[in-house]
Amino acid sequence: MFDVTQLVAGYGQSTVLKGIDLSVGEAEIVAVMGRNGMGKTTLFKTLIGLLPANEGRIALQGAELTRLPSFRRVREGVAYVPQGRMIFPALTVEENIRTGFRTRALSTPIPEEIYAVFPVLFDMRRRRGGDLSGGQQQQLAIARALVTNPRVLLLDEPTEGIQPSIIKDIARSLLEIRKLRNLAIVVSEQVLSFTMEIADRLIVIDKGRFVHEDRRENANVATISRYLSV
Ligand SMILES: Nc1ncnc2c1ncn2[C@@H]1O[C@H](COP(=O)(O)OP(=O)(O)OP(=O)(O)O)[C@@H](O)[C@H]1O
Ligand SMILES: [Mg+2]
Repeated sequence: MFDVTQLVAGYGQSTVLKGIDLSVGEAEIVAVMGRNGMGKTTLFKTLIGLLPANEGRIALQGAELTRLPSFRRVREGVAYVPQGRMIFPALTVEENIRTGFRTRALSTPIPEEIYAVFPVLFDMRRRRGGDLSGGQQQQLAIARALVTNPRVLLLDEPTEGIQPSIIKDIARSLLEIRKLRNLAIVVSEQVLSFTMEIADRLIVIDKGRFVHEDRRENANVATISRYLSV
């Protein structure tokens, strides 16, 4: 459903992604795992259009996205939660979620489903985004991405700097959303316990190439761990 072929991208003269192939099925959760600097964020930025693809193709349900600007990709059904969340600290939780609405009036209520999946955001809806904990901000960033009604959600290192109990909440929420929305998720991570809980497939990225892939049921945890440690 979401198909990436021979993607090459980088910064100026430096090529980071050296030919990435990725095919994500409907409602499938795929984890892209790799150490710092291996190209995870570069991949996500290229998928959402913050970086141009030098070569290759990106398509969603057969529609070519490769040359579209980011806002058009969002309209086509791709949503992106950047590493470090990037919520608006001075806006309330509710206002932050509304920034994900495209043309709907500001009075449009937040869909109930969002608060059902992230009850903490309901409790905090009038608080400023900047007052939330890291884990709550991550949930807020995911909620904001979901109101664009994506077909595929791109999450860049959602557990980074988040305490274990909230990591479990986030895992539970993502599985719930996948089921409710029939949503595909591509998530980059370094935390194997998290991806073993949510992912159908685990892929290892090393120096801009996919070097290993397993289905979760028969994941070679030792091999993946070896790639994740220095
Ligand atoms: N804006 C930039 N300009 C030049 N090089 C960059 C830029 N951003 C990242 N790089 C380089 O690209 C490579 C891949 O970085 P990237 O941020 O994609 O890694 P990552 O897997 O997301 O790492 P992390 O786990 O630390 O977030 C690294 O060598 C990095 O130094
Ligand atoms: Mg990164």
